[in-house]
Amino acid sequence: MGKKVTVVGAGFYGSTTAQRLAEYDVFDTVVITDIVEGKPAGLALDLNQSRAIEGFETKVVGVTTGPNGEGYENIEGSDVVVITAGLPRKPGMSRMDLLETNAKIVRQVAENVAKYAPNAVVIVVSNPLDEMTALAQLATQFPKNRVLGQAGMLDTARFSNFVAEALNVPVASVRTLTLGSHGDTMVPVPSKSTVNGKPLRDAMPAEQIEELVVKTRNGGAEVVALLKTGSAYYAPSAAAARMAKAVAEDSGEVMPVCAWVDGEYGISGVYLGVEAEIGAEGVKRVVETDLDADERASLLEAAEAVRAKQGDISSM
Ligand code: NAI
Ligand code: 2OP
Repeated sequence: MGKKVTVVGAGFYGSTTAQRLAEYDVFDTVVITDIVEGKPAGLALDLNQSRAIEGFETKVVGVTTGPNGEGYENIEGSDVVVITAGLPRKPGMSRMDLLETNAKIVRQVAENVAKYAPNAVVIVVSNPLDEMTALAQLATQFPKNRVLGQAGMLDTARFSNFVAEALNVPVASVRTLTLGSHGDTMVPVPSKSTVNGKPLRDAMPAEQIEELVVKTRNGGAEVVALLKTGSAYYAPSAAAARMAKAVAEDSGEVMPVCAWVDGEYGISGVYLGVEAEIGAEGVKRVVETDLDADERASLLEAAEAVRAKQGDISSM
């Protein structure tokens, strides 16, 4: 049977994700939903009209959903649901400032996903990411492997881009990694970062690596400050779309994602940025990698920080 993916939220993140997913041409159907009357239908019409030029057969369906779940029947049979619904940051705001507003939105969306697409893998992108991922699992009551969040792919891509620019080398020759939270306790991992297969630490001085680590941690805020309204969406949508594709194709690709951690790195019972194999069932396996002592300590610190915040969301 053909594959179906739903993107909830037809804002900047949702619409660019739907476009990428349609252009991959691996899904029969991309459904895009929003609470705004007409917007998803308009985007779907526009995207479908690009099919003859871009050369893809995927059909895009736009659906406006109502406060009592009206319209959600259209997501039935989705293999993957990407949740982008929620407010983005304004300049000066932290991702945590979005917690209460987005928790209400994500809970409502997740309950409808559980009702109408009970077998889907859910990829959360709404901020604050680690908390919204944990909330989506609570609200859907899906097995924890079937709910994951997008952050590490984006943060890692930012780190790689900064390294490639600093060294003036092709971005394809750079491998980096970020773990931890999509927030203040993001953990860029220089010890696992390479340029042309050689350690990043041999390619630039420690102070320069630290500068790029800081730049990566502030990567989202830098875009927000320049845009003035809204936050980044080209790199974020590339990340979420690749994750959804890996699920649809059951590829087993190893990606940095926000996943439920159960014993890896000596950490348990928390959604945290780690590397994982992604496939039809969502997270197939969390992949534990060797870390330096300080990177390991930072990851433990991140786990405790997000654990405290994830504890609060059960009441939201
Ligand atoms: P946006 O404001 O352009 O779009 C959000 C959309 O959600 C709006 O169209 C709004 O009508 C819709 N929405 C609100 N309540 C809804 C509901 N109950 N059901 C369906 N749709 C609903 O914002 P943008 O740029 O698309 O960002 C979306 C979210 O993604 C934000 O929370 C943002 O912080 C987050 N984000 C996360 C990143 C990550 O790496 N995890 C990166 C970039 C953004
Ligand atoms: C980003 O990292 C705002 O989380 C969003 O761009």
